[in-house]
Amino acid sequence: MRVWAIANQKGGVGKTTTTLALGRGLAMRGARVLLVDLDPHASLTRAFGVPPEPAPAGVLELFNEPPAELASLARDTGIPGLQHVAAQTALATLERRSATQPGLGLALSNALARCGDGYDYVLFDCPPTLGLLMVNALAAADHLIIPTQTEPLALHGLEGMCRTADMIERSRRRPLPVSVLPTMYDRRTRTGAETLREMQRQHGPRVWDDAIPTDTRLCNVAALTSTAPAEQYPGRGLSAYRRALEWILATEAAVLARTEAA
Ligand SMILES: Nc1ncnc2c1ncn2[C@@H]1O[C@H](COP(=O)(O)OP(=O)(O)OP(=O)(O)O)[C@@H](O)[C@H]1O
Ligand SMILES: [Mg+2]
Repeated sequence: MRVWAIANQKGGVGKTTTTLALGRGLAMRGARVLLVDLDPHASLTRAFGVPPEPAPAGVLELFNEPPAELASLARDTGIPGLQHVAAQTALATLERRSATQPGLGLALSNALARCGDGYDYVLFDCPPTLGLLMVNALAAADHLIIPTQTEPLALHGLEGMCRTADMIERSRRRPLPVSVLPTMYDRRTRTGAETLREMQRQHGPRVWDDAIPTDTRLCNVAALTSTAPAEQYPGRGLSAYRRALEWILATEAAVLARTEAA
């Protein structure tokens, strides 16, 4: 099982869109995939048609004593091979609980350790805040994917996220490979092209040498959650996500080969 955290401390950079597009892509390739919505705003959960009220069973139950099992919270999405775990608004209260309840930082790692071999990939859609939920996801992840808008201010967010990844790597004493996915790229603007170059200059091969373009068709959640074949939803955005998935899988294969050789 491979665990990917899709995270950026900055909001609105395409984390949820990326989680959906990559998860759908993996399932279409025949993998068993679980998407876990860690954001109290529950965008991913809503994308799959689960309303916020009454509160669905979901991620919060993984923090109970005793905790629920991940597989018992998984819901079918209608897409073969793709399941998801819902987020609840009350996830926002977890930060307060963590002050008095030790050990919550490893709740997701523990849930994964108990869940056996039921999934090939687990993808965490993180909230845009560096709190208990993001730390949990990073502690459990084999790979951190950072969607980053191609605009100058996003470079600061990316730097912050890379520092956080370094910190997590040091504390858990296990490598956390990072892949940066430039998003919402508008090649007609000079700012977009310059920011992309600067991102690549600052972060080297961690950055994809391509980018997800701005494509309003990606705002159509039906395209990302539909069981229809990909050809029914053509578009530059989705085809860029297919290329991005190939790159991420190739990056993973290279990391695994290096680890095995070491
Ligand atoms: N490549 C794209 N082109 C056009 N619109 C996009 C693209 N990617 C995402 N969007 C839109 O931008 C908005 C923010 O995207 P998304 O919700 O995926 O970001 P997020 O990082 O998960 O946000 P949050 O931090 O609020 O969780 C959404 O309305 C989404 O449909
Ligand atoms: Mg989101």
